[in-house]
Amino acid sequence: MNRKIIIDTDPGQDDAVAILLALASPELEVLGLTCVAGNVPLGLTQKNARIVCELAKRPDIKVFSGCEVPLERELVTAEHVHGKTGLDGPDLPDPTMELADGHAVDFLIDTLRSQPSGSVTLCPLGPLTNVATAFTRAPDIVERVQEIVLMGGAYFEVGNITPTAEFNIYVDPEAADIVFKSGVTLTVMPLDVTHKALVTKPRNDAFRALGNAAGIAVAQMTDFFERFDLAKYGSDGAPLHDPCVTAYLIRPDLFTGRFVNVEIETGSELTRGMSVADWWGVTDRTPNATFIGDIDADGFFALLTERLARLP
Ligand code: RIB
Ligand code: CA
Repeated sequence: MNRKIIIDTDPGQDDAVAILLALASPELEVLGLTCVAGNVPLGLTQKNARIVCELAKRPDIKVFSGCEVPLERELVTAEHVHGKTGLDGPDLPDPTMELADGHAVDFLIDTLRSQPSGSVTLCPLGPLTNVATAFTRAPDIVERVQEIVLMGGAYFEVGNITPTAEFNIYVDPEAADIVFKSGVTLTVMPLDVTHKALVTKPRNDAFRALGNAAGIAVAQMTDFFERFDLAKYGSDGAPLHDPCVTAYLIRPDLFTGRFVNVEIETGSELTRGMSVADWWGVTDRTPNATFIGDIDADGFFALLTERLARLP
């Protein structure tokens, strides 16, 4: 029985790998991709999402364009990490498939209302603007969501865009606050775990050795994408943030975490977007999220490589 998912995304090389993993996995039925401004502006994220679908030879996937600015803030992008196209690394052709008709937020609302309640999982991989807008416009859909599994936040790893905040949450902290307070069943993949999913050279070589278009493109993406983290953290490879979301849906046993309270800072400019996780239970705040802290990295890369091999 496969699991119905909607991926909300701001490709982004790591988003691209997460999408490819989903499209290669029979356990998952991708109902659509909803694109949001984040790593690069919306015009590029929705283009990149279609490039990735065509790399997987899946022009049937519905790709929707969504919110182009955060709820209240100016858009902050991350070309310094992802390059000016947002998908620097491989030389992939422009998409020929069209965008799906309609706005991403309407697709989220309509799908959650039309599918059986509790049967659709949302997988946000970027700023939460689309999801928060849908929840605000149609509060009835919140209880119809099976689960949200998102990439965002950080606790022990603290920030990657500021000293205290992870990028996805930082870009639209008000949207994140809405989602984290919504009461939805929530699983969070923070930097604490994604920084343990590093594309070391042997792992990158294994992608390239697959010899198929997807494997070679992923190797080229992570070759490009790793520069930022190598320079900043001295890590020995690109952290595959977003594919942790897809892998969790397929093999949750590869991950461990705790059900804790997580709240989002929206009032302070100094700590804007900080995800305050009560990991040690020092407050009486109600737990609202499964906050993932660890991963079987070898098992993750074995899964990812085996699934990429299934693609064209
Ligand atoms: O902080 C990492 C996250 O921000 C990833 O989802 C990356 O793609 C960017 O969206
Ligand atoms: Ca992303």
